[in-house]
Amino acid sequence: MSEPIPADRPRVWKTPPNVALCAEEDIAEPGARSFVLQIGEAYFHGFVVRKDGAVAGYVDRCPHAGNPLAIELDRYLTPDGSLILCAWHGAAFEPLTGLCVAGPCAGGRLTPWPVKAEGGVIRTA
Ligand code: FES
Repeated sequence: MSEPIPADRPRVWKTPPNVALCAEEDIAEPGARSFVLQIGEAYFHGFVVRKDGAVAGYVDRCPHAGNPLAIELDRYLTPDGSLILCAWHGAAFEPLTGLCVAGPCAGGRLTPWPVKAEGGVIRTA
C-alpha cells in the first residue's frame, strides 16, 4: 500500500538541466504529458506539449487560480489538439507559447518550464 501524498509537501518551480523525461515518441503529436520530479525533499509538477514538430514545457499551475490544469491525467489539450485548456474555469492557452487567449486570465501566460528534444529524448533544459 502506498503512503498518502501530504498536501503540504514542499514545491519547487524549476528543475536542473539535462534530466531525461521520456522518449519523444512517448507523447502523441499533438499531445501532452504530466511529469512530477522529486528534487531533494521537494516536488516539481509540470507538463510537456508536443505540437507541430516542437516541444514546450510548462509549470502545471494555471495563472488564474493556481490550480493544476488537468483534471484527468495528461489531458491538457483540447480534443482537436489546438489549445491547452485548463479544466477548472476554461482558460485556453497557445500550446507552444503558453499565452492565454481566452478565459479568466486572457493575456496572461503559463510559466515556462525549459525542455528540449534531442536524439529522440525529451530532457529538461
Ligand atoms: S484555475 Fe485555470 S481557469 Fe481557473
